[in-house]
Amino acid sequence: MTDLERIMEKLTKLRNQISYHDVLYHQKNKPEITDAEYDELKRKVVEIEAQLPEIYATQDSVGAAPDERFSKAKHQEPMLSLENAYDEQGVERFLSKIKRFLIENEIEILCEPKIDGLSFSAIYEDGRFVRAATRGDGFVGEDVTHNVATIKGFPKFLQGVQGNLEVRGEIYLSNSDFFKLNENNEFANPRNAAAGSLKQLDANVTAGRPLKYFTYSLIGGAEKSQSEVLNRLEALGFYVNEHRSLTSSLYGMLKFYNEVNDCRHSLDYDIDGVVYKVNDLVLQNRLGSTHKAPRSALAYKFSPVYAKTKLNKIFVQVGRTGVLTPVADLAPVNIGGVLVGRASLHNQDEIKRKDIREGDIVIIKRAGDVIPQIVRVDKDSRHADVPKFVFPEVCPECGGEVKIERAAVRCSEEFTCKAQIVGKLKHFASKDAFDIVGLGEKQIKFFYGLGLVKQIPDIFTLEERLNEFNLAEQPDWGEKSIANLLNAIQSRRVINLDRFIFSLGIRFIGQVAAKLLADYYVSYNEWYNSMIRLSSDGTKLIDIGNVGEKTAKSFGDELLGIDGIGKEVAKSLESFFSKKHNIKMLNDLTACLHILPANSNSSGSVLNNKIIVFTGKLRIMSREEAKVRAKALGAKISSNLSAKTDYLIAGEDPGSKYKKAAELGVEILDEDQWHKMTNLEVSE
Ligand code: IVH
Repeated sequence: MTDLERIMEKLTKLRNQISYHDVLYHQKNKPEITDAEYDELKRKVVEIEAQLPEIYATQDSVGAAPDERFSKAKHQEPMLSLENAYDEQGVERFLSKIKRFLIENEIEILCEPKIDGLSFSAIYEDGRFVRAATRGDGFVGEDVTHNVATIKGFPKFLQGVQGNLEVRGEIYLSNSDFFKLNENNEFANPRNAAAGSLKQLDANVTAGRPLKYFTYSLIGGAEKSQSEVLNRLEALGFYVNEHRSLTSSLYGMLKFYNEVNDCRHSLDYDIDGVVYKVNDLVLQNRLGSTHKAPRSALAYKFSPVYAKTKLNKIFVQVGRTGVLTPVADLAPVNIGGVLVGRASLHNQDEIKRKDIREGDIVIIKRAGDVIPQIVRVDKDSRHADVPKFVFPEVCPECGGEVKIERAAVRCSEEFTCKAQIVGKLKHFASKDAFDIVGLGEKQIKFFYGLGLVKQIPDIFTLEERLNEFNLAEQPDWGEKSIANLLNAIQSRRVINLDRFIFSLGIRFIGQVAAKLLADYYVSYNEWYNSMIRLSSDGTKLIDIGNVGEKTAKSFGDELLGIDGIGKEVAKSLESFFSKKHNIKMLNDLTACLHILPANSNSSGSVLNNKIIVFTGKLRIMSREEAKVRAKALGAKISSNLSAKTDYLIAGEDPGSKYKKAAELGVEILDEDQWHKMTNLEVSE
């Protein structure tokens, strides 16, 4: 492959990636990458093309093909994009480059916020609005005349205008309208929601969405500068963004960026940076444009990872296990394409350590799929008399007493605290648990509020109670939705043991621990009986500091012996099964269900369901590998020897377990016998 071929291959690959993301973004409104990542792909294309000017001097290489569902609208002048800068050096380079190009020492720059919406063009003939189009690929857009006409405050007639006039700007959704519209989390950010709202074949749908716009360009007017353009647009009755600044210095340009960045959170719309424009239109004309963007303008984008915003309030949530978790309610701010309105504060200590207070200006970090975090507080912008945040001394949901367990503060009213009950019900019905479609937080709160579902088993007897309650009279409920919900509940009466265990929402029993328990005990009855014995066993795990050192033989030993089950899980199970309320709940619940035993796909294996304990050093493979093989053959690995153990696999220097196994009558296999049993060739 020649160098050129290699470059062309790379270029094709990048372009394919861009087209793929364009379709996701423009047509499906479901982007998979952040704006910054997308910009980076585009930047790479431009970089490669710059190395091949003879091939790419005139082509527009990047842009989205217009959506085929709409009539096409050819732009009178191409709708270009903007060159981006991500740091101060980029801004400096831009300013010195245009000064060099124009051989000028001083150039006036008009600074504007960069609205994160979707660009549009609107054509007026003799003052009458005749057509509106989206950007599309920059040359041909989608005809959205009827949709744009529905936008509140969009002028249909311009007083005193003769001939052809084109107005360009940005259509957007306010952050507050976005949150209202996006209850089901359909859209990642207001821009996608705005695009989805505008690109409706039925303009009546668009009319129902609270779209807004700002204009920033005028083609066909007599204005001499960008400042005059903005004033004229305002005079004609268009919305124009109020923030702007005229400057001739780099300092002024950066100052505007910092000011806008700092006040971003107080705007109810998304901006993703600022735009610098050479103010004089004659100079703009002289600078001209590349195939992609005008040389006279630059977008200085905000960081895709960090943002400053205002922490409006700290509220304390109570989860299903009763832990009080502080959460920051933020003035929404877009970080890397996602509108962030909440951040995790972890626990009381974190608030103290970072000295976070309500009303503070904070620096937020959002990276990947991690829940946004507060990095630090901008202490300079704090008023002197702002009080420290006081962590609640009782449960904020039920007023119950709280207990401190290391960093966590926990409500002790497990069975009466509404937040804990609702949290448990929500977990029980959730996707990875019973997966009851149509029984989300909203419905659970609704049924709980009416006293129709007060605890988990009530879900399965809801139908009986609904016979005496006219649900169809309640808002949001109709015959169909009730039937759907009852069907969804009915269809979940049969469940696998591991899912069942997970659904109970017992502390520390996640999906992995639930599977280990289900595999070990196989049937519900076996698990239940063992757990009851565990909690009535005289040797309480709860009182023991270090379970590993425990010598007294207790039932907890068996549980702790299960490979992967630790002290916390064992203690938590013991605590769960020692409460009468839970036992009654389990009995009521299981009376409504058919719980399938854990099925092993290794039922033909001699090791299936056999309990195995390893001791001593193995020669042929590591203990880890031997365990994995044994599990794959259906065996259950334990670290504690008991009469229930089927085989003790004894390697070199086996220790006390060997003797104990002999006493208990447990079959002992040496390593070779073990490998034969598991069909492994033994070669020295
Ligand atoms: S001027 C040649 N001014 O940003 C394009 N664009 O990333 C000139 N945008 O396509 C556009 N706010 O959709 C301009 N104050 C502003 C803007 C702005 C947002 C958008 C516009 C453009 C995109 C480029």
